Amino acid sequence: MIGWIIPPPKPPTKTPPEFLQERLKKVRELEAKGFLRSPRLKAAMRKVPREAFIPYNYRDYAYQEVPLPLPGEATISCPHSYPLFYEALQLGLGHRFLEVGSGSGYGAALAWEVVGPGGLAVSLEIDSETFAFARDNLQRLGYQQVVIINGDGSKGYPPLAPYDRICFTAAAPEVPPPLLEQLTVGGRLIGPVGKPGQIQDLVLVVREDTGAWRRVVVERVVYIPLRGEYGYSPG
Ligand SMILES: C[S@@+](CC[C@H](N)C(=O)[O-])C[C@H]1O[C@@H](n2cnc3c(N)ncnc32)[C@H](O)[C@@H]1O
Repeated sequence: MIGWIIPPPKPPTKTPPEFLQERLKKVRELEAKGFLRSPRLKAAMRKVPREAFIPYNYRDYAYQEVPLPLPGEATISCPHSYPLFYEALQLGLGHRFLEVGSGSGYGAALAWEVVGPGGLAVSLEIDSETFAFARDNLQRLGYQQVVIINGDGSKGYPPLAPYDRICFTAAAPEVPPPLLEQLTVGGRLIGPVGKPGQIQDLVLVVREDTGAWRRVVVERVVYIPLRGEYGYSPG
């Protein structure tokens, strides 16, 4: 088994200007390391206050490269994982985007900033406690246009399909077939594939003009398990 060392919970001490400085520093660091390249995602990461998506007693750690616990069986992923996923997806203006695993709602807020009002951001969360946390965060921070749904995202979300870009943010035994089916031709999908508690493959799938799916491994990662019909546990 491998995992992360989570820092101890404590009331936050940092001020809003300190969080802003940390956020801008993190963006510069992710640019310098080559994770963050596209102007729209840079602007989104400068704008969205990650600390506001994190439970009170973990807020001071918002810009550390560590996943942090959320209400329910969930974590908010490390800061670098968002450009890791979204740059590989080539997420851009006007895209119809589906996220499986809302967690805190932070990833959905970033995606909404990138796709803009002419696009669509849909986020599915299976855990009802985590769902309520993400929904409240998104509403409080003005992201009412993100469509957030409490349900099994391993089946995708047919009512708003197809999607140009799809990500799943929990490790699956294999890429869930319904997600492949709900991807547009020319579309891209990304998510971790592998066993819980082990190093997993971050798999990128591109749907070719022929309709076939081309698959490449872009990174090695560690994520919590996907639940639901195409995950590791029923729900
Ligand atoms: C690493 S967290 C996601 C972090 C999130 N992107 C954020 O920005 O905070 C993975 C999430 O996937 C959720 N999850 C697991 N299986 C799921 C499923 N079948 N459908 C929807 N959500 C699922 C977990 O409850 C957890 O909240």
